[in-house]
Amino acid sequence: MKKIVALALTAAVSAGAFAQDFPSKPITLVVPFAAGGPTDLVARHLAEALRKPLGGASVVVENAAGAGGTIGATKVARAAPDGHTLLVWHIGMAATAGLYRKLQFNALEDFEYLGMINDVPMTLLGSPKLPANTYRDFEAYIRANGGKLNLAHAGLGSASHLCGLMWQSAVKLDKSMTTIAYRGTGPAMNDLIGGQVDVMCDQTTNTTAQIEGGRVKAFAVTTAKPLSNHKLLKDYPSLQEMGLKGFNLTIWHGMYAPKGTPAAVTKKLNDALRVALKDPEFVKRQEALGALVTTDNRVTPAGHKAFVAGEITKLKAVIEAAGQFAD
Ligand code: MLT
Repeated sequence: MKKIVALALTAAVSAGAFAQDFPSKPITLVVPFAAGGPTDLVARHLAEALRKPLGGASVVVENAAGAGGTIGATKVARAAPDGHTLLVWHIGMAATAGLYRKLQFNALEDFEYLGMINDVPMTLLGSPKLPANTYRDFEAYIRANGGKLNLAHAGLGSASHLCGLMWQSAVKLDKSMTTIAYRGTGPAMNDLIGGQVDVMCDQTTNTTAQIEGGRVKAFAVTTAKPLSNHKLLKDYPSLQEMGLKGFNLTIWHGMYAPKGTPAAVTKKLNDALRVALKDPEFVKRQEALGALVTTDNRVTPAGHKAFVAGEITKLKAVIEAAGQFAD
């Protein structure tokens, strides 16, 4: 019995010592999409805000794109559970659970939940070439020409893919648009601006500057109500106002560690996240791009996990209604 107690004590002391020394090397935030997109932007803003609460640690962003974000998520699920490799991902954590029947990870079992980061509205966009300037013109044009047009997204299970699926399902297009998958909506945005693709639904963190610069056309926002607090985005109607009853899509982002990361380490990371989310510079940069930084109980690991579990159930129904699976 004494041996067991001694072993338990040793384990506890070494875990405590490990946590005391954490972080002992640079922390990597894995972004499962290409650089230059909204997920990448959230992670880079967050990396800067995490440095100080983590004692000046180096926090870097690594892009591991592909398969709608599931390549990067799998990488983190399989990483050493020491708190130095983390995942910054969005609604795809829940959407892919319903979209992929053969995922390499389980959203609720293979990660330690570190807290939510923000909620980001989406905008429905067209290339500058699209002959429409209002949502009504846009919808009429897509109804008449949908079969000849294409929609860009960041892979099956990405936010842009989910939004495209939901919008086409809501307007009941006779012929769906051709979808073109990119490694992120950063690169996809370049082709939308250039007119190589016709339509994209993307997060305001990636679209606000392009809309303001007149490089793309915006038609509506995906939130239940218009973004009346945002100086630029307030001018666009919500899809609900345009007759798409119940349409309400906001892209939330959370932070995750591999399952088995010591509790003392995940606590340190959650504590640092809570400080980062209150960093005035972080909040200002996020809100300027239409994002709302999380302030409710979803910043707690338990609240984060309960929220994602509910989203998995909700999105499974949406995906089944759209009748599309990734594999
Ligand atoms: C998405 O569509 O899921 C994201 O916008 C992809 C990205 O962050 O590039």
